Amino acid sequence: SSRPPIKYVSGMPILGDFAENWENVKRFQARADDILIATYPKSGTTWMSEIVDHILSEGDTVRTKRGAIYERVPFLEYAVPDMPTGTERLNLLDCQRVVKTHLPVEILPKCFWDEKCKTIYIARNAKDVVVSYFHFYRMAIVHPEPGTWEEFLQNFMEGKVAFGSWFNHVKGWWNARKEKNILYILYEDMLENPKREIHKVFEFLGKKESEDEVEKIHQATSFQAMKNNPMANYTSVPGSVMDHSVSPFMRKGICGDWKNHFTVAQNEMFDAFYRKEMADTDLTFRF
Ligand code: A3P
Repeated sequence: SSRPPIKYVSGMPILGDFAENWENVKRFQARADDILIATYPKSGTTWMSEIVDHILSEGDTVRTKRGAIYERVPFLEYAVPDMPTGTERLNLLDCQRVVKTHLPVEILPKCFWDEKCKTIYIARNAKDVVVSYFHFYRMAIVHPEPGTWEEFLQNFMEGKVAFGSWFNHVKGWWNARKEKNILYILYEDMLENPKREIHKVFEFLGKKESEDEVEKIHQATSFQAMKNNPMANYTSVPGSVMDHSVSPFMRKGICGDWKNHFTVAQNEMFDAFYRKEMADTDLTFRF
């Protein structure tokens, strides 16, 4: 197979091509009005990106129609052959920028803290994340082969997948929220009451919203609306990057799909490991 191997930067596993671009990530210049969206992969990044882009557009559809989600909200560390890198896209934007990153908090370039950028972190329960990530590894063929589900689950627990340990990621950003300007949001809360969470984002960004505006954003960013929107569903990326016939990017968008993947034994093993890893935090999730 021609799938590229994982490499390491600052001790974190990352896609090989991303590692090649790492110097540009380190050299990146944040601007004070940049809004950072940080997540562990598969936690609702695209959903929140779409919400924030709608909020900034203030009804101006020129902004939200500007292009695909990865053009409107570039992915800082992104680098694959034959496509502009994330830093290239970001450096060309002359409007207020929304920056997507999957970096663990300890590796995030310092410039974002120096500039005191507002940051929205979205976390999703580990079991649904690993299921979503498994299917994403299968379809996003810039990743190494995921192996069997069993193997992938093991690698995920050991932090041997791109962007490392989910446990380290969600806890690191959770702890950072005390000192930094971070809005910490749970994917499960967005599913439960999307409008409540959209209100939170408006408030965090210091914007006044009308009920009508929130309703419009809620409609435009529903799972079905985004799945049907070629500017939000990643169908415009080259086939050399993603193969939607293997598994669509907008796959299910629910809580609890892990029950269709974990065996009873895998679930018991995972729960035991989870309890140990999460013993030192008051951060909790619904499954
Ligand atoms: P599933 O694979 O479980 O369906 P990310 O954007 O961080 O890569 O996360 C992708 C996950 O978020 C996928 O989960 C995807 O379906 C889900 N998702 C994307 N948009 C969504 C929306 N509007 N509502 C609910 N889930 C959404």
